[in-house]
Amino acid sequence: MKVLVVNGANLGLLGKREPTIYGCETLEQVCAETRDFAQSKGVEVTFFQSDIEGELVAIIGGAVGVYDGIVINPAAYTHSSVALRDAIAACGLPTVEVHLSNTHKRESFRHHSLTAAVCTGQIMGFGSNGYRLAIQALVSSIEHDEKKWS
Ligand code: DQA
Repeated sequence: MKVLVVNGANLGLLGKREPTIYGCETLEQVCAETRDFAQSKGVEVTFFQSDIEGELVAIIGGAVGVYDGIVINPAAYTHSSVALRDAIAACGLPTVEVHLSNTHKRESFRHHSLTAAVCTGQIMGFGSNGYRLAIQALVSSIEHDEKKWS
């Protein structure tokens, strides 16, 4: 199984960025832990990070036929991007939305996700462990769907 892990704006700054909210690990460390976990489940992961909305839209558009599913932390675009929401809906791949922080405990503008409604599910508030939980959830969901249709 192949999974694309997409990280949006400012997540390249993890480790330095508001560590009391997002933790002290760098994105490289988070990706390494996620890769180790994914490998233990027989999942091949590819990571992509961009601060640019159009690049995130393009990578999702190119995922069809290459990946079995997507894990995405759209970061600030969660709350603003119709384009990202449409890209996730258009690609049709099972997608799990991840947030390091529990956005419902934060400012009200973070309470609404434009992308969540086109995702299979959402995991938030568990820090970097959220990416591992998302891989696990995606694998279970894909395997469950395969059984349902066979
Ligand atoms: C975030 C939450 C967003 O509201 C914020 O803009 C981020 C990170 C999270 O992982 O907790 O950049 O997606």
